[in-house]
Amino acid sequence: MSALLQVSSIETLYFDRIYALFGVSLEVEEGGIFTVLGPNGAGKTTLLKTVAGLLKDQPKKGEIHFAGQRIDGWQPEAIARLGVVYVPEDRGLFRELTVEENLELGLWGRHDAGIAKDLAFVYEMFPILRERARQQAETLSGGEQQMLALGRAMLRRPRLLMLDEPSLGLAPRIAKSVYEALTAISKTGTTILLVEQNARLALGVAQRGAIFEAGRVVLEGNARELGDNADVREVYLGVGTTEEPAKEWRLYRKKRRW
Ligand SMILES: Nc1ncnc2c1ncn2[C@@H]1O[C@H](COP(=O)(O)OP(=O)(O)O)[C@@H](O)[C@H]1O
Ligand SMILES: [Mg+2]
Repeated sequence: MSALLQVSSIETLYFDRIYALFGVSLEVEEGGIFTVLGPNGAGKTTLLKTVAGLLKDQPKKGEIHFAGQRIDGWQPEAIARLGVVYVPEDRGLFRELTVEENLELGLWGRHDAGIAKDLAFVYEMFPILRERARQQAETLSGGEQQMLALGRAMLRRPRLLMLDEPSLGLAPRIAKSVYEALTAISKTGTTILLVEQNARLALGVAQRGAIFEAGRVVLEGNARELGDNADVREVYLGVGTTEEPAKEWRLYRKKRRW
C-alpha cells in the first residue's frame, strides 16, 4: 500500500459524547490531491484536526498512519515534525505581523541550504506578497491572506499539506488563482488533503476525493467519477435540476443512495 496518509475507521467525539466522525476511512496517495467535500457540519474540519493531533485524546477509535508510522495519539508538534502542515480555515496568520514576518515564522527551525530557493518559489507563485512584504497581515485582502498562509505553509516543506476551505470568502477570480497555486504546489511533489465546500473548484484539481455527510464518508472515488455522479452533480455542482429546487431537494433526499 503506497498511501502517504491512511485513516482507518476513526471515531472522533467532542466532550466525549458528541460524535463528529463515525468510522471514517480514507487513503491519500503520495503526490496527489485528495479532496473532502460536504456540507457545513459534516466533519471535514474535525478530520483535519484529528489527523494533525489537535483534538486531545482523539480519535477515540481507529488508527491513523502517516508514511508508515502510526500517529494517532501523538502530540501535534510530533506530527508536524513529520511534515504534516495544517492551514486552518481562518488561515492562522499573525495579524499584527508583516507579510515578511509571517513568512519568517514559516522558516522557524530551518537552517538548511534550501531556504532561499523556497522563498523564491513562494514569491514567484505569489508576486503580490513581495509587494506587500512590509504590510501587516491584517491589512491584506482575503485572497492575499490565503496566499500568505499557503506561502508560509510551503516554507515548512510539507510532505502533507492539509487545507481547510481555501476558497472560502474569496471572489471567483481570486479563488481560481489560489487553485492554480495549489496545482503548482502539487507539481513540486507535495501531497495535498483539501477540504472544500466548492466542489467544482476542488474536483477540478483533485485526483481523488470523498463526500462527507454527518460524520461519515458517503461516497469515495476518483475525481472524475465523483464529478460525473448524478447525486454529486445535483447536490454539489447544482446541475441537472429542472423542477423547483425546494421540492426537488426533498425528492432527492428520498431517492439518494447514501
Ligand atoms: N469545538 C467543538 N465542540 C463541539 N462540537 C463541535 C466542535 N467543533 C465542531 N463540532 C461539531 O462537530 C460536527 C462537525 O463539525 P466540523 O468538523 O466543523 O464540520 P465541517 O468542517 O464539515 O463544517 C458538527 O456537528 C459540529 O457542530
Ligand atoms: Mg469546517
